[in-house]
Amino acid sequence: MLEKHGFSQTDDIADADLIILNTCSVRAKATDKVYSALGRIRRAKKESALLGIVGCVARESGADAFRRIPELNFVLGPQSYHKLPEIIKTPDTKLLNIDLGGLEKFDELPKMEKSPLVAYIPIQEGCNHCCTYCIVPYTRGRELSRPFDDVIKDTINAAKTGAIEICFLGQNVNGYKYTDENGKLYKLSDLIKEAAKLSEIQRIRFTSSYPTEMSDDLIEMFGVEPKLLPFLNMPIQSGSPNILKKMNRPDDLDAYKTIVQKLKQVRPDIQISSDFIVGFPGESDEDFEQTLNIAREIKYINSYSFKYSPRPHTAAALMPNQISEQIKSVRLQRLDLQLNENQREFNMACIGKEMVCLMEGTDKTGHNIVFRTPYMQQCIVEKPSVEITPLQKIKITDANKSCLRGEIIK
Ligand code: 5AD
Ligand code: SF4
Repeated sequence: MLEKHGFSQTDDIADADLIILNTCSVRAKATDKVYSALGRIRRAKKESALLGIVGCVARESGADAFRRIPELNFVLGPQSYHKLPEIIKTPDTKLLNIDLGGLEKFDELPKMEKSPLVAYIPIQEGCNHCCTYCIVPYTRGRELSRPFDDVIKDTINAAKTGAIEICFLGQNVNGYKYTDENGKLYKLSDLIKEAAKLSEIQRIRFTSSYPTEMSDDLIEMFGVEPKLLPFLNMPIQSGSPNILKKMNRPDDLDAYKTIVQKLKQVRPDIQISSDFIVGFPGESDEDFEQTLNIAREIKYINSYSFKYSPRPHTAAALMPNQISEQIKSVRLQRLDLQLNENQREFNMACIGKEMVCLMEGTDKTGHNIVFRTPYMQQCIVEKPSVEITPLQKIKITDANKSCLRGEIIK
């Protein structure tokens, strides 16, 4: 969009005519980082340079952002990126747009002319679940699914311009539902089926899934569609039904485990990843032990763990029995030990296996090529003398907790 206005990218803040911070407000730390970065940037930038924030911190701060950082020229929420050129036309004004509205931005943003090997394609935005810790329903609004045809058009465009892996994106991606003008309902499984027909697309994945929305048609896709990677991010957040209730999350652990079993039945090599929050208000030692237990039992890999962070506009921020930073830190450390152990165990079990991996680039030394396995592990391979294609069959020869090593199979 900006290229159409004559802009090109620079790494030098002092040289930039336009500076945009794309922001996340899901935890306080991310928001704080935005303001400390803005403090640095306003001193380093040219006086004439336009400076702005886009995304969820913009939505959360609104006009207050201009008061905190007077040098800001624009504050655009996550549904208003397409308004950005307005500030180029009228640089002397302050541009504020944090409306949630609909999904018009997708109609207005230009098509990618060249896609990376992995194309991230948004299929829905917003979230109708109201997890009590989460600011997303406030920053992104109610769930909206993009029209099926639009998503497929973007997927075809990505395939024709260089993508070989598609990742469908959404805050509640498996809640995707679109009814066309003839009343025909489309779900995520329909998008996967359609994308898999494209010969250029070799790998398909999606993130992030809500456990109780893993419908049977979607689970079945893992059994019938080989292009769908055997890896699923399905956050559980906590292993304690008591805390899950307070989080307003699905609290039936047996139902969660049944979904995992069904997935394993149709795709025995599937692995699951999760997000975890430790130190949610009222979390006892016993509740936390249950989180450790579920992490061990499901053997989650590639997972994310966070200390609970009170957020504005959320119910949990007002709950009694907030947990101290110190306890949160200890719990996070203990959970990370378990998650690292799971990862190490899985990585070690991969030694000797052959996997088709996607090239990501060279490493810092320049002597090795970094690949992504179907489970999103990093796999490092010594640079071969012959030319290689982006998808390679690799034999895993070694592993530790953070990555694999392998050899290209001719
Ligand atoms: N504090 C800590 N972690 C949070 N997440 C969302 N909100 C919060 C919060 N207030 C985590 C959840 C979610 C991931 C994207 O961020 O684990 O899955
Ligand atoms: Fe936030 Fe995810 Fe819960 Fe929606 S499902 S409220 S995005 S944590």
